[in-house]
Amino acid sequence: NHLRKDLDSILNTCKEENKTQTNAEFQGFLKLFQRFLEESGPSVNWDKIEKLPADAVKEHHTLPKPEDNEAITKMLNKLVVIKLNGGLGTSMGCHGPKSVISVRNDLTFLDLTVQQIEHLNKTYNVNVPLVLMNSFNTDDDTEKIIRKYKNLQVEIHTFNQSCYPRISRDTLLPITKNCDVQKDLEAWYPPGHGDFYLSFQNSGLLKKFLGSGKEYCFISNIDNLGATVDINILNLLLNPKDNVQHEFVMEVTDKTKADVKGGTLIQYGNKLRLLEIAQVPKEHVEDFKSVKKFQFFNTNNLWAKLDAIERVLREDKLRMEIIINNKSLANNVNVIQLETAVGAAMKTFENAIGINVPRSRFLPVKKTSDLLLVMSNLYTLKNGSLSMSPQRMFPTTPLVKLGDNHFSKVKEFLGRFAAIPDLLELDHLTVSGDVTFGRGVSLKGTVIIIANHGDRIDIPSGANLENKIVSGNMRI
Ligand code: UTP
Repeated sequence: NHLRKDLDSILNTCKEENKTQTNAEFQGFLKLFQRFLEESGPSVNWDKIEKLPADAVKEHHTLPKPEDNEAITKMLNKLVVIKLNGGLGTSMGCHGPKSVISVRNDLTFLDLTVQQIEHLNKTYNVNVPLVLMNSFNTDDDTEKIIRKYKNLQVEIHTFNQSCYPRISRDTLLPITKNCDVQKDLEAWYPPGHGDFYLSFQNSGLLKKFLGSGKEYCFISNIDNLGATVDINILNLLLNPKDNVQHEFVMEVTDKTKADVKGGTLIQYGNKLRLLEIAQVPKEHVEDFKSVKKFQFFNTNNLWAKLDAIERVLREDKLRMEIIINNKSLANNVNVIQLETAVGAAMKTFENAIGINVPRSRFLPVKKTSDLLLVMSNLYTLKNGSLSMSPQRMFPTTPLVKLGDNHFSKVKEFLGRFAAIPDLLELDHLTVSGDVTFGRGVSLKGTVIIIANHGDRIDIPSGANLENKIVSGNMRI
């Protein structure tokens, strides 16, 4: 009740034209908060996790191909592509939306996405709309940037996800009294990508697309460069051979030791669902990480039937596990933000399945070490899509670790490479300390370069390092 009162008084400070929207968002927030208060204890009972049924995860390479181009055209006209674009580039030291970071040939995540969809629309003469889910953090910048795509063959729609008030950990009440978000940005947060469903509906876009004959949406992280439209998955959804209508697909991929923290797919209470590490009781965390016990992880490339989204919202059936995110703000105030993940809605849908896709459909850029790979000759870029160079002997990507102090920010990272080295034969690279690279450098096998505190190592132009450890003041 205290919370309700606080929210009412915040609502009173809103401009008249924003009140309805803010009120709708506060209702969503109250519901989430209510569940947070009521639900105690772990959201899964470990002993009730069942073995994945044999047909729960289909192998991508077994999916039938569409008959011909005419069939593809028909299918694509029923598709909407959604990119989750609410996140900032702060973790890579950038201001503004993450999607405006240049990743390859001066092209940003957004540029590449638009190129991909334009290519699809031109090739098949279709209209696949691109929808960006922005947040109050990314909306202004994104709107400015997408103007430059105006004359391309891509219909771009945007909507804003909700903006929820951060709650004090001590009082469980909002830390602001005012609804002006821009005045006090720290007092608000976008509540995770699980907010997609409700915000998409609130925006009116769900209804609009259903009205114009669209049937499925393909949702993915904008920072996953491997998340391109897959015609065979779309074919499975729109022309199911066994007449089973899959309302939801989660693209999963084989888990390696490097991905043990990623969410996994489980069978629970006769339904498939996403299990995130945050939901796992402490004593089972090691089990969760096991690549044998949980073979797959979620790529967050998801496909959902639009009328099914409409139905679960109308029937108020959508329940996603709450992720409690504790934060300490700059002024030392401790806050809680309640979030949800878009894949957690899987259990709500009928006949949901996993599809085991090749690793190439999961190419996220979270750190500058990922950026190094996608900028390098390991990949070739065509029509906005990156593919692994055929000159690489093994299809796996090298393991790259770049020191946090000197490489974690994009600007500094770029300043340290006169040109991106040749990585075609690289297996493992560790760089730490004050290290720079000249032009035409080639790195092969396992290369470790460590400049101790106070030292600096300049890898000269043309250097060819193969299975080498470079440290201290060593000359190359
Ligand atoms: P995250 O920052 O959540 O990445 O953004 P993650 O934690 O590595 O990945 P997940 O959560 O396990 O998938 C993933 C994508 O979701 C968007 C970001 O812009 C990014 O594209 N996002 C995240 C939103 O749109 N809204 C949010 O509230 C959070």
